[in-house]
Amino acid sequence: MYRIVKAECLAENIYLMDVEAKRVADHCKPGQFVIVRVDEKGERIPLTICDFDKEKGTVTIVFQTVGASTKKMAALKAGDAFHDFTGPLGQPSEFVTDPIEEVRKRKYLFVAGGVGTAPVYPQVKWLHEHGIAADVIVGSKTKDLLILEEQMKSVAGNLYVTTDDGSYVRKGMVTDVIKDLVKEQGKQYDVCVAIGPMIMMKFVCLLTKELDLPTIVSLNPIMVDGTGMCGACRVIVNNEVKFACVDGPEFDGHAVDFDQAMKRQQLYKTQEGKAMLKLTEGDTHHGNCGNCGGDK
Ligand code: NAD
Ligand code: FES
Repeated sequence: MYRIVKAECLAENIYLMDVEAKRVADHCKPGQFVIVRVDEKGERIPLTICDFDKEKGTVTIVFQTVGASTKKMAALKAGDAFHDFTGPLGQPSEFVTDPIEEVRKRKYLFVAGGVGTAPVYPQVKWLHEHGIAADVIVGSKTKDLLILEEQMKSVAGNLYVTTDDGSYVRKGMVTDVIKDLVKEQGKQYDVCVAIGPMIMMKFVCLLTKELDLPTIVSLNPIMVDGTGMCGACRVIVNNEVKFACVDGPEFDGHAVDFDQAMKRQQLYKTQEGKAMLKLTEGDTHHGNCGNCGGDK
């Protein structure tokens, strides 16, 4: 069992938890994720890691309540425990394994959308700890849904917050800020890392392609085993099938087929859609297992 040492509501339907998971904390790196289960029969929920403390042996997760399982998770308090906390899974962010002198030469722009701010934080923090100041854009629907602002401010070179409704700092989407920084202010970046809802990553990539700015995205399709066995998390990158859980979750954003990925997420939501996936993809995972969000 994995004890929750801190449970906090960050905003409406968004929760943060510090969980005792020493082996995961010892080995995890920015960009990786965990799969959690509340109880023996619980759905397996993939969550990108928001932070980790090797000394305390804790891992921080942030999640949004979207279905029955995440609502069950949200009801847990400090002192309660998860039945499973599996990880670290997936590949770490590229800069973690690149030679540090190469990484130091690059100017990074991070683009975080909504709950995607949580997986952006450990990456910016890692760069900060290695003497690299990255610019960060955080987009939120409204001021009330903005998360981790102070934490991000403490590790970012410059932090640019924007809200869709203009209730805080400035009005507009993250793409408006990218245009301002690059086209109006003439800032130059070598790499953009965009993490958030699929539609945001699609539009950020369309823009950065036009700006000739290489872009990395972190994909979070439906996952079941998290080990490359079930096929649930398949995505198309560079016209090739990739499994987000083992080949990713980070990919070259300009090579990702976002329309296919979004269509696949939608197909998982209906019986008819799942039958279509079975027809087109053969005998692989098509929901109904009771273990993945595809059944909800
Ligand atoms: P949201 O819908 O509030 O969007 C966040 C920001 O993204 C907006 O404020 C806006 O600036 C930008 N955005 C949205 N649509 C855009 C568009 N068409 N063009 C340009 N910018 C756009 O985000 P949310 O409700 O927090 O998102 C929840 C989703 O994010 C869930 O589907 C969840 O699965 C996903 N998510 C993804 C990751 C990941 O690793 N990729 C991590 C956490 C959450
Ligand atoms: Fe990736 Fe099963 S979750 S193959």
